[in-house]
Amino acid sequence: MDKTFIINTHSHVNMLKNTNIDDAISAAQNENIVTIVPSSTADDIFEVSGFINKYDDVYGYVGVFPEEAKTFTDKTLLDMENLIRSNKKIIGIGEIGLDYYWDKSFKELQKEVFIKQIEFANQINMPLNIHCRDAYLDTLEILKKYNKNSTAILHCFSGSLEFAMECIKEGIFIALGGVVTFKNALKAKEVAANIPLEYLLLETDDPYLAPVPFRGKENQPVYVKYVAEEIASLRGCSVEEIANATTQNAERIFNFNAE
Ligand code: NI
Repeated sequence: MDKTFIINTHSHVNMLKNTNIDDAISAAQNENIVTIVPSSTADDIFEVSGFINKYDDVYGYVGVFPEEAKTFTDKTLLDMENLIRSNKKIIGIGEIGLDYYWDKSFKELQKEVFIKQIEFANQINMPLNIHCRDAYLDTLEILKKYNKNSTAILHCFSGSLEFAMECIKEGIFIALGGVVTFKNALKAKEVAANIPLEYLLLETDDPYLAPVPFRGKENQPVYVKYVAEEIASLRGCSVEEIANATTQNAERIFNFNAE
């Protein structure tokens, strides 16, 4: 029998507090779930790089998160380059992007750091895992202008179907997580039901945003299967179909084989 794999394209499993991290990773491995862990600051790129080496089926991104843009220095790209050279399990740049929700006071710095990391990813031909909150128009504009050749993924997509289609027209992938399982998340459900499968990816963004039936509790990588189940039910297809399509998409983007 062919095994069904799921690629969880965004999981901070290294940040779990109430769940034993080794147990959470075993639970994911037992269900053929591959986990990709983003970095947030100029310092924790080292931590993430070390962390992913401890486990099978766990990969990572290096990148500086918009809210942490102030930690980005001239040395950061060099550090990222050295880590990528020495660690084959680093398969993308993330999470990078723009966040105008919490603090708009350093918008310009966020943009500058985002652009520098896009240009870096272009040079080494790596995909981008993008965090975008209340900043969709600026994010798309920057990607159109600066991104030459890296596949972009909008993680935890919370925009409208119309905006999702506009992104897809630019070749951008849409990653959906636990929010699609929330009863009142009509926009996310509409996106999940209607975007072409060729541009869909799955994630959890744990420890945040646990899907139903664990909403409000600490999220973990294995719960990505509830995301896949909800999307399958919204689209009227099988979970295997969602798992296989999104796994193929991820394998192509990250240039690896889940098996
Ligand atoms: Ni995240």
